[in-house]
Amino acid sequence: MQSGDAPRSAPPWWHEFFDDDYAAFGLANDSPELVERIADFIVKALALSPGQTVFDQCCGIGRLSLPLAARGMHVLGVDRALSYIHRARNRAAQANLQCEFHVADAFEFSAPQPCDAAINWFTSFGYTPDDDRNIQMLHRAVESIKPGGRFIIDYLNIPRLMADFRPSIINRPTGNGLDGLIVLNEQKADYKTGMMHSEWTFLYPDGRRIVRQVATRMYMPHELGRLLETAGFVDIQLFGSTDGEPFDRTSRRCITMARKP
Ligand SMILES: C[S@@+](CC[C@H](N)C(=O)[O-])C[C@H]1O[C@@H](n2cnc3c(N)ncnc32)[C@H](O)[C@@H]1O
Repeated sequence: MQSGDAPRSAPPWWHEFFDDDYAAFGLANDSPELVERIADFIVKALALSPGQTVFDQCCGIGRLSLPLAARGMHVLGVDRALSYIHRARNRAAQANLQCEFHVADAFEFSAPQPCDAAINWFTSFGYTPDDDRNIQMLHRAVESIKPGGRFIIDYLNIPRLMADFRPSIINRPTGNGLDGLIVLNEQKADYKTGMMHSEWTFLYPDGRRIVRQVATRMYMPHELGRLLETAGFVDIQLFGSTDGEPFDRTSRRCITMARKP
């Protein structure tokens, strides 16, 4: 850096974390049965019928866009990770499914034509300590659906995460080419900023070692509901899992559904 140059700030963690290593472990490794179950739940909760349009905000590799398209929906997905969108497009083309994918920032991007419903799945929200910044994604979601349309967001269950807090978690995935991989997740809560910081270490059998940082806002269910209301949604409903069971402190996830008036 030349003297007088402004120091460059580091890119946000989500620009680095969502790479092929994460995708292989975190997105492409779910059992097909689990993904089908989630898609069934989404269709039922959002009361979708074939021919309707769904906005998949932060769609990743199209893990849910594709099964939703296979159920007859027209899916419009957005993600900032170029390689993920390439994968989503290739998979949709191979399966001859009605999907349109965009590489864009979900803080900025809204659907060119409002959709019948929208999803934001698998903790793809709350990545900054700044509520005003986070809520921009909810504004883009509300803009992306028609009046009366529903939005569903799948998030961490913070009461459970706190009650069962584990400072370190070790995963040893098997199958899908992941045999021998060890993924260590070390977590630390920052109660001043409200962020859960995690350091993920990927240890490959060939000795390769990758370390990545993650930070997620510890929104309690009612706080997420308030953000949704501030963004313009109404009729907040909570589910505890994709079985549709009611939310409580032991639920696996905090799934919040809301409607655009
Ligand atoms: C945990 S993954 C979930 C992906 C997908 N929703 C699923 O359930 O398979 C989070 C995704 O959000 C995307 N993402 C994070 N921040 C984003 C942003 N600001 N704009 C667009 N995509 C973003 C990442 O690239 C990643 O694909």
